[in-house]
Amino acid sequence: MAVMSSRRTKFVLDEEQIPRAWYNIAADLPVPPEPVLHPGTGQPIGPADLAPLFPMALIAQVVSTDRDIEIPEPVRDAYRLYRPSPLYRAHRLEQALDTPAHIYYKYEGGSPSGSHKPNTALAQAYYNKAEGVTRLATETGAGQWGSALAFAGAVFGLEIKVFMVRASYDQKPYRRMLMETYGAEVVASPSLSTEYGKKVLAETPDNTGSLGIAISEAIEDTVSHPGTKYSLGSVFDFVLLHQTVIGQETILQMELAGEEPDVIIGCAGGGSNFAGLTFPWLGRTFRGGRTYRVIAVEPEAAPSLTRGVYTYDFGDTAQMTPLVKMHTLGHDFIPEPIHAGGLRYHGMAPLVSLLKEHGHIEARSVHQRASFESGVQFARSEGILPAPEPTHAINVAIDEALEAKASGRPKVILFNLCGHGHFDLSAYERYLSGQLEDYEYPVEKVEAALAGLPKV
Ligand SMILES: Cc1ncc(COP(=O)(O)O)c(C=O)c1O
Repeated sequence: MAVMSSRRTKFVLDEEQIPRAWYNIAADLPVPPEPVLHPGTGQPIGPADLAPLFPMALIAQVVSTDRDIEIPEPVRDAYRLYRPSPLYRAHRLEQALDTPAHIYYKYEGGSPSGSHKPNTALAQAYYNKAEGVTRLATETGAGQWGSALAFAGAVFGLEIKVFMVRASYDQKPYRRMLMETYGAEVVASPSLSTEYGKKVLAETPDNTGSLGIAISEAIEDTVSHPGTKYSLGSVFDFVLLHQTVIGQETILQMELAGEEPDVIIGCAGGGSNFAGLTFPWLGRTFRGGRTYRVIAVEPEAAPSLTRGVYTYDFGDTAQMTPLVKMHTLGHDFIPEPIHAGGLRYHGMAPLVSLLKEHGHIEARSVHQRASFESGVQFARSEGILPAPEPTHAINVAIDEALEAKASGRPKVILFNLCGHGHFDLSAYERYLSGQLEDYEYPVEKVEAALAGLPKV
């Protein structure tokens, strides 16, 4: 194959260009966010309601409307271990597709735990430590979030307890071992270590778990252990905020490349890597700049944004979290055990839902076989093995590039390659040997779960 020698493939920044502040989209939103409600009273919650779960510094970030929220120096210093992350031009994928489109991807898989998740794990661990917390409890789907928090716990000296969704615990033993190597304690959820886990197992002994159940267990663990707070890897406003380092760096890197994206794409489970990439770009639009097509991609097996209802719901199955307005499939909905464990969630971040509801972003859903096919095509052209979650974004990026070819209209596509798939090889093996199944959108299960929505 003829390869041009002068083409630039990587756009890299200096460590000094790691952002000094997170970008808070609340400062620029064209519509105000909906209030978070107390599950008991139905009234808007205040800081005191969240204090049992989170340190005050994080609660302050949720209510802040400052555009720039300074990144504490110890967090920025830990970011130096892997930030700035590179932006790649996917020349070889473009060639394989024979497309006139230019494709760029931001690679977050080079972090110590292999995804974008340490961007918020380090921040959360830092603020908890600073306020005297000694132990954090959390849930993990794919194991990426648990690994990131375990790593952050090691950096800032905190004990970490992880409730890992049973389906992933069985599919990904090496993720558990990585977390344990960082010093965390990991149990499969539903587990026997909480009252809620025991109840679920008594009713359904073969339960494969869900993020909704694991969140309930982590919250119960938090409120029943002194010195413990709760930490989460997605959905909440402050998690999305911490991820905006991704988009801010990308704006500088696209300047280096001398191009502007027409389409910006991210996979969306709870919405944090998608928001991290896209919010800084959307902020430019909201401040009067040009518009971009922004697309969130989710699995057909858990399509909250494309088929869910925009309403108040709980973030977890046991109804312990505050009520947030979001696109939801119902907090009782347990998605099929697809391999993109990080996308197996019944809801979506309220900020992402708000933007979808008001037409500022688009959403698409993709079956798991199609997304793995795109992941394999990407690996064979670009060399990086993607985690199952971002293969959803790759699938839509390829679609957009093929559309450019069919229409003869070039475009610039930017997507987030938010994690590597080195711990997901058994899923790739199942795909390659033809054993991977697609799960149809489960209409009846979702209808049943929606019937259990809280009345607000
Ligand atoms: C690699 C990867 N991508 C995406 C996600 C989905 O989460 P979010 O939508 O918050 O980025 C996860 C969650 O575990 C993940 O591990």
